[in-house]
Amino acid sequence: MYKIAVIPGDGTGPEVVREGLKVLGRVSSIFQIDFDFKEFDFGGDRYLKTGKTITEEDIEELRKFRAIYLGAIGHPEVKPGILEKGILLTLRFSLDQYINLRPVKLYPNVETPLADKKPEDIDFVVVRENTEGLYVGSGGFFKKGTKDEIAIQEHVNTRKGVERCIRYAFEYARKRNREKKVTLCAKTNVLTYAHDLWERVFHEVAREYPDVKTDYAHVDATTMWMVKNPEWFDVIVTENMFGDIITDLGAMIQGGMGVAAGGNINPDGVSMFEPIGGSAPKYTGKNMINPIAAIAAAQMMLDVLGESAAAVSVENAIIKTVGRMKSMAAGQMGYSTSEIGDMIATDIVK
Ligand code: IPM
Ligand code: MN
Repeated sequence: MYKIAVIPGDGTGPEVVREGLKVLGRVSSIFQIDFDFKEFDFGGDRYLKTGKTITEEDIEELRKFRAIYLGAIGHPEVKPGILEKGILLTLRFSLDQYINLRPVKLYPNVETPLADKKPEDIDFVVVRENTEGLYVGSGGFFKKGTKDEIAIQEHVNTRKGVERCIRYAFEYARKRNREKKVTLCAKTNVLTYAHDLWERVFHEVAREYPDVKTDYAHVDATTMWMVKNPEWFDVIVTENMFGDIITDLGAMIQGGMGVAAGGNINPDGVSMFEPIGGSAPKYTGKNMINPIAAIAAAQMMLDVLGESAAAVSVENAIIKTVGRMKSMAAGQMGYSTSEIGDMIATDIVK
């Protein structure tokens, strides 16, 4: 029995989560996997009513679950930064979800803006460090609001944090068993302290994985190769901020935010799975948004829980459905949000 915390969140979050749960319901009966879902109302509406983002007690409660399934966080009436920091980043940090796993995979029939690139060319995974770097929120202002103002935002990299992330990437490349190659994406020519640490640890860990090839690309070059030769990548490992940026590019080359999913993973704790796209307020309640990313997040959750046969079945059902869709863009899919959920649920087979 898996206890899963469900956070539908804001905007279109609840609509796409509903489809993910529909598919998981079907998985449950076909694969005899028991889920116990409990919903939480964290998000913009609760914040506007109560002034609360996520409290210590909320975190303690969430620790009792095997995983968290999240829709979207972001509300047009809440100033940017409050919910992101107060909910999403607080969850990642307090539950020590130190990996942000973001597959970039182009499914057949999905349009990519890259001319001449096919599904076999776009199939890699970004392992993004998820608890350090520029995201720690360390720094401050000096003489704020004056002409002498100084703003400092510190880039924090710990030996432990870097090592566990890189090790995860090597393990993942082995498990994925494709090209078995890990590319370090960094900026060693400029970040001569922070990324010197990354580079040293990378080579040190690599020695323990003689069967896995290594490669290096500066972050600016990485964005170039992702567009020009995405087939060069198998597993990319990178720091938090670079990972944030390159995975938006990744989402675009795999067909857009309607498709891209991610897992915030603590291999020894509570992981959280989410569609990467935001809360898309203008589509809220219209049954128009693409639920594929949310369903793919549910698929990742199954995989991380160790239910690989069920995860494969969800992926096959996703592939079948995207094959029939006109577009991945909201409102142009040829089907409604709930119809897509129905189609995928129906296609779940053992
Ligand atoms: C993401 C988002 C978040 C991030 C924001 C909303 C804080 O862009 O999940 O990629 O920067 O990590
Ligand atoms: Mn992002």
